[in-house]
Amino acid sequence: MGICVITGGTTGIGAEVKRLLLEQGQEVFNIDYKGGDVCADLSTKDGRASALLEIHNRYPDGIDCMICNAGVGPSQPAANIFVLNFIASVEMAEGVRDLLKKKQGCCVITSSNSITNSTVRLDWVDMLCNVMDEDRIVEFAKTIPPQLQPSAYSSSKRALAKWVRRISPSWATDGLRINAVAPGNTTTPMTQGLTEQQMDSALLIPIPTRYGRREFLDAVEIANGIVFLASKLASGINGSILFIDGGIDALLRSEQV
Ligand SMILES: NC(=O)c1ccc[n+]([C@@H]2O[C@H](COP(=O)([O-])OP(=O)(O)OC[C@H]3O[C@@H](n4cnc5c(N)ncnc54)[C@H](O)[C@@H]3O)[C@@H](O)[C@H]2O)c1
Repeated sequence: MGICVITGGTTGIGAEVKRLLLEQGQEVFNIDYKGGDVCADLSTKDGRASALLEIHNRYPDGIDCMICNAGVGPSQPAANIFVLNFIASVEMAEGVRDLLKKKQGCCVITSSNSITNSTVRLDWVDMLCNVMDEDRIVEFAKTIPPQLQPSAYSSSKRALAKWVRRISPSWATDGLRINAVAPGNTTTPMTQGLTEQQMDSALLIPIPTRYGRREFLDAVEIANGIVFLASKLASGINGSILFIDGGIDALLRSEQV
């Protein structure tokens, strides 16, 4: 059985992934700022450095899978969103690439189905993917007003998806796969505090598989997709963004394939 490292495995989608992997008999090592096997704040440079050191010390012979799932939602300041959702995911994935190479492993990243909606700022996506300088990104993010945090969120997740697609051919030359999931609204601690009004706007377009019900997706539905991409069953899949959103993306963008 394999060794899987996950970030953000303490609650929500990550906790469901951890549960499913443990049920399969995999070893799971959770990096989280609360309740992790290693407690590290991945929104800080020190937190990421200590987490990577810990993974290398613990698994010098390699790991089978890295799942970069930790993230914050649009209620957070833009700087936190950009750093944790984008910079930390990229740094953690690249930081264990040497360990994945030892076992011909793979990586799964948690993006979001908001990557195709109109809040995405392509200039911010470009800045994240092409500048990738944390200090400059944080300075810029401080100028973003709170009402644009949803744009910071969708842009951070779009940048992640773009990075995955871009980097996947080079990972493949090392015998590695990297893919992402793009979840729709899911019931987790991240969405639990929504007001009625926020819930209404989140469900403005009802989730097709929940049609007629005022419901989000369940965390296990997203986790199943992540565990599949992390498994050998997905050996032919690389550079893909798997929408797990009950069909919202297909509904809104049916002409794009
Ligand atoms: N819930 C949704 O509707 C939804 C939709 C699309 C994408 N996502 C993404 O799914 C992922 C998981 O979110 P969730 O919905 O399960 O929410 P969640 O809040 O339950 O999970 C986030 C996890 O990340 C950890 N975390 C947060 N900040 C951290 C930090 N600074 N350092 C280390 N760990 C930290 C939390 O402790 C938690 O375990 C996120 O990347 C989120 O953006 C969620």
